[in-house]
Amino acid sequence: MFTAETVIFVAVTYVLMIVAFFMSRYRTFHIALMSSLVVVDFLFPIYLYLNKEWWRRLVEQGELLSFMVWMHLLLVITLYVLYVVQISAARGILRDRDGARGEHKTQAKGILIIKGLVLLSGAFLVEPDSSV
Ligand code: HEM
Repeated sequence: MFTAETVIFVAVTYVLMIVAFFMSRYRTFHIALMSSLVVVDFLFPIYLYLNKEWWRRLVEQGELLSFMVWMHLLLVITLYVLYVVQISAARGILRDRDGARGEHKTQAKGILIIKGLVLLSGAFLVEPDSSV
């Protein structure tokens, strides 16, 4: 279950996000790495769509009705919403808006939790005999 390279790839992005989280005082590094990770996370479903047999699994095998698929999907949507508000708070920090730093810091913890759960629920969805 945990051997699929997609899971390993997402785990690497998670570790990189934790690194950027703890290195927020290096502003340029933090912004560059976080922005790249956010872009990668938004593009990743397109990769899955193009490379996975989603029609067979979701429609033919009926996994569309599975609890794990829906939980994973809702976590991904939550992560995207948090990314949008996090970028908005980041813009606030750069413009010296009151409270923006506190928002950014609080949301940061939520993002790490939700991204971890996205990774975990995604790992549970990997097909046991899948080599891709
Ligand atoms: C495109 C995305 C992001 C941008 C542009 C951005 C930008 C910034 C900026 C400008 C700062 C202030 C740095 C300074 O003190 O000079 C900051 C701080 C910080 N960022 Fe981000 N950030 C982004 C995403 C994230 C994400 C996804 C997380 C967490 C997972 C995060 C966690 C933090 C933390 C913990 C701080 C320190 C807050 C504090 O202690 O005051 N950031 N970020």
